[in-house]
Amino acid sequence: MTDYIRLDSVGCTAIWETRPDEAPLWRYWGPRLAEDAMPAGQLRDTRPEPSFSLHFDQPLSVFPGVGLGWFGQTALLAHRNGGDWAHAITSCAVEPVSNGVVFHLTDEIAALTISIRAVLEPDTDVLTLSTSLRNDGDAPLDVQWLAAGNIPLPDDAQMVRSYGGRHNGEFVPIEDHLSRSLWRRENRRGLTSHDCFPGAVVECAGGVAYGAQLAWSGNHVQQIEWLDDGRWHWQMGEWLAPGEVRLGSGEAISTPELLATCSGEGANGVAWAFHRAIRKRIGWPGGRMKPRPVHLNTWEGFYFDHDLDALKELAAAAAAIGVERFVLDDGWFQGRNDDSSSLGDWWPDADKYPDGLEPLASHVVGLGMEFGLWVEPEMVNPESELFRAHPDWAMQIAGRPLLAARNQLVLDMGRQDVRDYLFEQISALLRALPISYLKWDHNRDLAHAGNSPRYREQVLGAYALFQRFREAFPDVEIEACAGGGGRIDAGIAAHTHRFWTSDNIDAVSRVSIQRGYLQFMPPELMGSHVGASPAHSTGRSQSMRFRSGVARAGHYGIELDLRKLGEKDLARLSAGITAYKQSRDLVHNGRCWRGEGADGISWLAFGDPSDLMIQIIRISPQTLRFAPQLRLPMLLDDRLYTIETERQPTTTQYGGWLTKSGLTLPPMKGEDVLWVHLSLA
Ligand code: DGJ
Repeated sequence: MTDYIRLDSVGCTAIWETRPDEAPLWRYWGPRLAEDAMPAGQLRDTRPEPSFSLHFDQPLSVFPGVGLGWFGQTALLAHRNGGDWAHAITSCAVEPVSNGVVFHLTDEIAALTISIRAVLEPDTDVLTLSTSLRNDGDAPLDVQWLAAGNIPLPDDAQMVRSYGGRHNGEFVPIEDHLSRSLWRRENRRGLTSHDCFPGAVVECAGGVAYGAQLAWSGNHVQQIEWLDDGRWHWQMGEWLAPGEVRLGSGEAISTPELLATCSGEGANGVAWAFHRAIRKRIGWPGGRMKPRPVHLNTWEGFYFDHDLDALKELAAAAAAIGVERFVLDDGWFQGRNDDSSSLGDWWPDADKYPDGLEPLASHVVGLGMEFGLWVEPEMVNPESELFRAHPDWAMQIAGRPLLAARNQLVLDMGRQDVRDYLFEQISALLRALPISYLKWDHNRDLAHAGNSPRYREQVLGAYALFQRFREAFPDVEIEACAGGGGRIDAGIAAHTHRFWTSDNIDAVSRVSIQRGYLQFMPPELMGSHVGASPAHSTGRSQSMRFRSGVARAGHYGIELDLRKLGEKDLARLSAGITAYKQSRDLVHNGRCWRGEGADGISWLAFGDPSDLMIQIIRISPQTLRFAPQLRLPMLLDDRLYTIETERQPTTTQYGGWLTKSGLTLPPMKGEDVLWVHLSLA
């Protein structure tokens, strides 16, 4: 008996055609359909058999098989000692769950049980898919690939935008025209990586866009393949190393979640759906996000050169201009004077901190700020007490050299004793000191993941440790960092509260990095700091006004030695902090739009159509004699808006005018930023 399963959210609809003896077929995934808009007949009645084709038609299903008539990419590649490699679903039962379904599938011939969970959250427009697989056979099942989800894209899909980069250069957009060649990007670096964000956006004709991202902080694959019916097949999942997953009889594996969405409002609509979904994944202390506190991070101001008196002066200077959280970065623990040693020895350096961290932490808290501490739990330097005591705790492959990066090796997070050690060491600090924040770093790729590959166990082990800290210290917030933005993804978002977006805090570089980030993640999680000038990462110099104005688009912080700032810059920074505090509620709780104006202008808008903060940026000097008008598409046509900027007298104007004719901009020089507040008059 054929049935249709339909899920709707406010903006999207998913429809499958189900039969009891095969995998559900995809009938529709796209912008919301009217309630009575349903398929006009079953696929098998409406698709005539093409010449020289199999008699049994196989349209794209939620679990495309292999070897039995589906010729596209498969959901599963697995075998038992070379046999049982061909797969097709033989039974399907549908279980309704809140806002979704679970498809319970079996392949009775290959002895496999598969469950696919599909939930379309009405308020986020995000379809969350995940797949689990159980080996019902007697012999072990070697799994080479198991897609987290398989989704269709319409035949007018034209271009896919994914993001690449490197340390100091995250979120570089990569635009590829979709063709009949397979589009595929893989990450095999063991953690999310700087160079391959696990997600992409597909632009279709008519302004519709689709997005997908994998909630996973490890290796991954994303691919899009053209289908014979003109549509496209989009898959994401973990990249598995040879031999990485072998399921014994009765054993099961679950994939990470795939978050998918679509919008008639293009990439901005996709971003809005993702922001809402990510916001729901964050476990804020007390259940609610408090206003994001202004940070002071010691890294670029002090690096490893920790001097208690100087740090106390810094803290006092920070509190005086309104900083709310002081984060002591790398350099505080035993023997850590440069990056050559000591990772793993998580107790305060006896020379730098003879009385431990208590004097500094109490000083900071006494000044009314929160105290945060940097750690890099998954790492060990060969030059450390930990490595000398437990050399076998570092990931290695017998007979192969230990491959160091930044002089460090990776601990085997799949081991309970390793996790116990890290938990004990770091929780001793959390118990003894008023620490309310951890910056959790991960400064290298994972090269050799054990004699038999344990990449996924590494990720699951790290998640378990994050979780253990969250449960034991529910009031402590955690920042995810990996040499800047090497671990930004929806998986780690469930355990953390901030992303360190990039070690590059040059404000010009940050403009594009932050725009790329905002495609997938919301602004309140985007660590965004005012750095020194010249910027340490690029050598370029920018004004304090520009640096501060760019940082206000995210979770604002400062990363320089405040004691070295001149009076004017200190006053400008202090004004930036005040402005950030005034606008953060709007910037951090609403929607975010990204857009471009004429003559090199780019802009971000935050809030809702009745109350918006707009960041307008000009990087290169104007080429036109007069500043262009800036059209803002989201405003309400027939409503009068008050327009406030720091540079022009307050005026009013109708939304329709601002949408269609545009906002009059003042002249802007190169490397200039203007914040505008638009609210209903
Ligand atoms: C890399 C991070 O991205 C920096 O912010 C800083 O914490 C250093 N690691 C410390 O080693």
